[in-house]
Formats: sequence, structure tokens, C-alpha cells
Amino acid sequence: MQQPGRVATGWMATALAAFLMLCLPARAAAEDGYELWLRYLPLPAERASAVGAHTKHLLIDAGTPTRAAARAELRRGLEGLLGRAPADATAVDAAGTLLIGTPASSPVIRNLGLDLRDLGNEGYLIRSLRVNGHAATVIAANADLGLLYGAFDLLRRVQTGARLDALDLREAPRVKVRVLNHWDNLDGHVERGYAGASIWDWWKLPDHRDARYIDYARANASLGINGTVLNNVNANATILTPRYLAKVAALADVLRPYGLRVYLSARFSAPMEIGGLKTADPLDAGVRAWWRDKASEIYALIPDFGGLLVKANSEGQPGPQDYDRTHADGANMLADALAPHGGIVMWRAFVYSQHNPDDRAKQAYTEFKPLDGRFRDNVLVQVKNGPIDFQPREPFSPLFGAMPGTPLMMEFQITKEYLGFATHLAYLGTMYEEVLQADTHVKGPGSTVAKVVAGELHGHALSGMAGVANIGRDRNWSGSVFDQANWFAFGRLAWDPALGAREIADQWARMTFSDDDAVAGPVVGMMMGSREAVVDYMTPLGLHHLMGRGHHYGPMPWDAGGPRADWTPVYYHRADRDGIGFDRSRRGSGAVSQYAPPVAEVYDDLARVPDEYLLWFHHVPWTHPMRSGRTLWEELVRHYARGIDAVSQMRRTWMRLEGRIDAQRHAQTADFLAIQLNEAQWWRDASIAYWQSLNGLPVPAGFPPPAQSLEYYQSLSFPDAPGN
Ligand code: GCU
Repeated sequence: MQQPGRVATGWMATALAAFLMLCLPARAAAEDGYELWLRYLPLPAERASAVGAHTKHLLIDAGTPTRAAARAELRRGLEGLLGRAPADATAVDAAGTLLIGTPASSPVIRNLGLDLRDLGNEGYLIRSLRVNGHAATVIAANADLGLLYGAFDLLRRVQTGARLDALDLREAPRVKVRVLNHWDNLDGHVERGYAGASIWDWWKLPDHRDARYIDYARANASLGINGTVLNNVNANATILTPRYLAKVAALADVLRPYGLRVYLSARFSAPMEIGGLKTADPLDAGVRAWWRDKASEIYALIPDFGGLLVKANSEGQPGPQDYDRTHADGANMLADALAPHGGIVMWRAFVYSQHNPDDRAKQAYTEFKPLDGRFRDNVLVQVKNGPIDFQPREPFSPLFGAMPGTPLMMEFQITKEYLGFATHLAYLGTMYEEVLQADTHVKGPGSTVAKVVAGELHGHALSGMAGVANIGRDRNWSGSVFDQANWFAFGRLAWDPALGAREIADQWARMTFSDDDAVAGPVVGMMMGSREAVVDYMTPLGLHHLMGRGHHYGPMPWDAGGPRADWTPVYYHRADRDGIGFDRSRRGSGAVSQYAPPVAEVYDDLARVPDEYLLWFHHVPWTHPMRSGRTLWEELVRHYARGIDAVSQMRRTWMRLEGRIDAQRHAQTADFLAIQLNEAQWWRDASIAYWQSLNGLPVPAGFPPPAQSLEYYQSLSFPDAPGN
């Protein structure tokens, strides 16, 4: 669109654009973020020649779609990185051959007699070996998908500076089901999506398969993500009609070579809505037959269909409780329908009811714990990381560790519904790590959430991790370049929940921006502190759920009333003239008692509870003495300031990187950091103005008063906020 005041006429603008195109280096045009972390830009000459010595030839039987994808990726990657693709070889008869295969697909691999026993169907090994007397790099696996994952691993190592001369790696995923959850509606709107419309073009499917689906699959395979739930958990039954299943089957065909299985969210009342039945009662024979037939219909079209994800009796969705049945009854009915085909059910534990006066944080545990051990073997219960709802910080959900007889799947949110959408920089790797490394203590020290999720603590064969996707039709996929890191971190941690957030950030920064330490170092520094900054300026010291109603944009701690108390900030902060915080101690709602005793004791005890959970578990006076020696009020005000300072610091760091990062991605991120700084200030000012209206306390010395009156902040409204 022409800006007012710009003088270029139509032809001048076109000529200017053409001239500028000629001036740009060949690949700069692609630096709009579309390539994600798979940019494969040329390596410095010395590194290129070192890597090139190991990748002169490529020996792979590309006779299956997955092996063809591995070959194509290696050729594409090495051509970009080294300036030339490896030459295809038919035997290992020269030094520098990349040899890739399963024992079944490659006689050379078979003859090497490698021990692949512990690698399963998705693991792989990468080794520097001598084959036929020549130096070779071998990627071997039991199945094709392992080869593809191994190819991406090798490329990742090349992109992040690894040497290829003495490789000896074995990798296998610790978690079995590693899925994205798209909250995409059939009309293209993405619930809590901040990256444009849904990438699934339902209207043009099945006849047109957008090339973008392949890049989506490549990106996921590069992380080891092996499944995707295509539609919103607030599901529309239409997805299960023949017309839509044909579209789903077309997508499954595109994604299959990359190891991505397709799953769907099922609406529990589908038998009534699209099946014409009078009931959806899970114990009704007709309903059970309907789902069995539906499963057969799906598997006839999609033989490797993954299974169903269900949000039932949650936030108004239909479910088995509508018929006085339990969540286990509902899940098991679907599990029975899917079992003959090898499918699974992911049954969500995100439940709470406005009719239940008990603390919302307790309700998922209260409902699900009694059902432990009552689910079929092909059911995973999918639990959000915290007991409320993807807040900037929550303690881990007490369900982890509390249902030893049931495999529990982690649900993280990658899209940043409560952390400033796409325009606030918040690297979630640190949050995921904090949750996964939290110690449930249910089987003594070291009983981490990661071990529960990996099925290791209680010995479950089935295990899973889900991430609510942040992907949309924006060129950069995720709404901002830095939000791509959250997709990346989720995928890496789903593969291995013990990985460190810093290591992941470092890999991502090197692949996404530059392997130069002078770029990667500062970028990682920004990322590592970014989520804590958001906690500080939005919800410090254990506060939670203070954002605007519905769209969840901006501060609205004063919000009360409306249809449900448990959707209002005042329900969560309980602030008044004297104090603030939700008393979940044994003297309060008792939510602490849902944790194993060693954890419960710490959270219950005002003297021991970590500062970051103080107001999550306790209601304390504004004058409560903190460990720092300051009062709670002083500490709160300091935390807001600390959050704003951290954003300023990120911005300064980023501005110093100008010229070292391509202009387009640099400029967009710079704009977003400016937005974040303004909004951090807004969060701080609106929150302080509101707390002061209750406690009447002055802003502590050395800190400025809010820029505007409380009435001003209360008058703001955002009917157009996205994702709602
Ligand atoms: C949050 C979110 C909803 C979503 C729900 C869920 O409440 O705001 O949009 O549907 O979580 O996870 O089911």
C-alpha cells in the first residue's frame, strides 16, 4: 500500500523495485524467516572444505519416500552449506562417502554388523568408520525414519560447527508420541493463533496440496516430531465426515514420508451431530458401533492414522459426564474403537467447572486421580504443564506422578496466549525445562516430571508430549522469528526431555541467525532471560491470570463479574486493602496437599516456599517480609522494574546486532521489541495503579508512579486482539 507522502509513481516504483532486486545478494530475499532453522547458508571456506572432505559422495538407496526425503535433504543442505551437493555413489570406493541405510536397504550397512538393538524404529547412529578401507560417515538405523532423523541430525551438526571426523553417536527418542496440537478451526481461524490463518487450506484440499505442507513436514522431522493433530480441541464434528476425511487423507499422504502421523480432535457428540444418533453415551451399543465404524472408515483411508485427541466436559464441550459416565468410560470407548487399528486416544485432563466451588487449580487432580489405572492401554491422559492454564509461570501440575497406573502425556503451549502473543520475545525453552526438571518426589528424590512423561518413572510403554502449535500462514510461520525457537525447543525436548534449554537455544540461534559466536552468544543471552522478564512485568511472585478477558491481551487485574468467577483475575489474586495472593496452603484451599509430601511441605510453608510461587500458594499482607529484607509490596514493584529493564537490555543487545543479521528479520524483531517494551511498561503501570487503589501504599522511593491514572488503563479495550 502506498504511504501518504511517498512520491514514486507506479512505473517508478516498479523500476526501483526491480533495481533493488538486482542489488540484493541472491539469498537475501529468502531471509523473511520462511526457511526457519533449515537455511543452509554457505559455510566459511575453511569449514566448508573440512565438511566437504567427509561428504564428497552419498550412498543411499532412495527407493522409499522416506529415504528419498533423507537424500533430498542431504543434497539440499550440503549444496547450500558447501556450494555443491555430494555425488551419488553406488559403492564405498573412495574416501569421504556418506553411507546411509538400514540393514534391510543396504548390504554394505548389513555387512558392517552394527549393533542397532536399542535404537527402535526411530533411533539412529552416526559413526565415522572405515568401510572397504575408506573413511566413511555412516548413518544407520533399523527403519527409514531413523535415517531421515539421522540426516537432519548430521545437518544440524554441520550448521552448528561440529567436526565430522570422529563421530560416534547413538540417538533414540525418549518419548514415543511427539505431537503438535493445532488449534485450527475448519474456517481457517486459529484459536490462540498469532501467525495468521491456518496453514491447512481445507477449501483447496484434497485436490491441491500446498507445497508448504512439505516444508512443514521437513521442519517437524528435523526435530523428531512424529505426529500432528490437525484441528482444534474445541472440535467441529464435520472433520469426521467423509468429505473432510478425504482432505485429511491427502494431508496424511504428504506428511507420511517425513514420519508425521496425522491425528484428529474428536467432538464427543459427533455420533449425534453427524451420525444422526439420539445419544453419545459411551456405554450405548449404538454409539460404540458408530465409533467402531468411524475408526474403520478412517483407517481405510489412512492406514497409519495416529488416533484421536479429546477435550470432553471442559469449558462447555460435550463429554461422557453428560450421561453420568466417567472420563475413563469415554476414553475407553474410543480406545476400543481404535485399538484394532493400532490407534491411540489422547484424553485431556484440562477440566474445571464453574459449578464446582473448589479452587480451580485442584479440579483436574480431583477428577482424574480416582480414575488412575482405569484407562485402556492405548490411552494417554494429556495434562497441561501447570494446574491452571499456560500462565507465564505455574508450578507443575500435581497430576504428574499422582497417577502411576496411567501414562500421562505433557501438554505444553508453544503459542504464547498468556505471554504477549507473537510480539513479545519469550523463549519458552527455559519454562519447559523448569517444568520437566521439577521433582515430583513421588518415588523419592529425582522423580522428575520428565521421567513421568517419558514413562520411565512408572514403566509405561506409551508416552507422549504435545505442544499447542504456534504455526500459521505468516511467511515466518510463527508470527515472529524468535517464536520459531519455541517450536524448535518443544521438538527437541519431546525427543529428549533431559536436554538443556541453553544448549537448545544455542543450536537454534546458530542455525537461525549465524554460527558466529558474536551473534549466537548475545542472541542466546537474550533468549535465556526473556521468559523471566515476562513473568516479572506481567505476573511476578506467583501471581497469575491477570490478563484481559477473552483475548488475554494486556493487563486487567481489576476484572470481575461476567459469566464465570474462575475466568476473572480477582478470583486468582484475591487482593484487598490488607494483602494479596491465593491461599492454597493447608489452611486455605489445600491444593498443596495434592503434591507428594516433600513438595507439599515446602509449598505449604511460608518460610520455605520459593519466592516465585509465593502468591500462588499463599495470601500474605502487603507488608510481608521477604527474604530480601524488603516488604512484599517493595519486592513486587522491583520485579516489575526488573522485567522492564530486562526488555530494555534485550533491545539494546538486538540493536547492537544490526548489520550482523539480515535487515528484514532484524527490523521486524526490532519493531517487536519496541512493542514489548511499551507493553511491559503498560503492564507494570496498570498493575501498580490497581494495587495502589486497593492498598493505598505509595510507590517505593526510587521508582516512578504509573504514567496514567487507573481509570485510563481501565478504559482501554481491544476488540480486535487476534486469536480469540
Ligand atoms: C485455554 C484457552 C482456550 C482453549 C483452552 C483449552 O482456556 O484460552 O482457547 O480452548 O485453554 O486448552 O482447551
